[in-house]
Amino acid sequence: MSPRMVPAAADRAGRTDRPLAITVDGAPVSGIEGQSIAGVLLGAGRLSWRRGPSGPRGVFCGIGACFDCLVTVNGEPDVRACRRTAREGDAVLTRERE
Ligand code: FES
Repeated sequence: MSPRMVPAAADRAGRTDRPLAITVDGAPVSGIEGQSIAGVLLGAGRLSWRRGPSGPRGVFCGIGACFDCLVTVNGEPDVRACRRTAREGDAVLTRERE
């Protein structure tokens, strides 16, 4: 948890921090409901999940403009991880396995 993160109980926005579980390349990864897939990956300590011509790639813009964060979600290829909200049970495949 970030030292700047407001505890859920004190969050005036009503955040509940309900946990969710996805798999990434077959391994279980936990996140918080409402996070993007990129947010879940970053929260799990993954800074990159594919290789581009210039090296490891993960989140660059974080707003859906650069396509650096592409993953496959539930069989759907080329999903921008920064724009897709993680759902319970999502099966995410990265390109690190290639
Ligand atoms: S980080 Fe740029 S599109 Fe996702």
